[in-house]
Amino acid sequence: MTNSIKTQSYTYTTIEFKVHGGRDGALVALEEESEQVPFNVKRVYYIFKVGEGLRRGFHAHKNLKQLLVALSGHCNILLDNGKFRETVTLNQPNIGILLEKQVWREMYDFSEDCVLMVLASEHYSPKDYVKDYKEFKKMVLKKNA
Ligand code: TYD
Repeated sequence: MTNSIKTQSYTYTTIEFKVHGGRDGALVALEEESEQVPFNVKRVYYIFKVGEGLRRGFHAHKNLKQLLVALSGHCNILLDNGKFRETVTLNQPNIGILLEKQVWREMYDFSEDCVLMVLASEHYSPKDYVKDYKEFKKMVLKKNA
């Protein structure tokens, strides 16, 4: 599959998916190990009905890669790779952000209709989580040493 457009930021890559469509609506197709999803997809999950003012995440992953797409509505994501901190708004079903491993994330300001889909490169593993920010900083310092 071709025709996706990638934009690199400090802590993430934005991937604009090709939209197939016409008068009868729009369709986005995602395939694993492709331009849009550069890893094997072992897991898909989605987050929805997040109440007003709630914040989720507050962790990094040791080895997991993820692609996040707001299928409907919008939300904000704070990303931190230990060196740079940025926020991104996800608000289009044809835009995904690719997070490499070892990026701290916090998700907030979910609209009532937000459905945030996540494609993940590994099965669920609590051991892959780093939930302590100081531990996260130590991990990335080691990586960049
Ligand atoms: P968590 O990763 O803490 O969510 P968030 O980062 O959005 O705050 O997961 C919330 C709960 O869901 C937790 O009890 C673990 C469970 N869970 C699974 O069982 N499988 C999964 O793939 C994920 C992502 C979470």
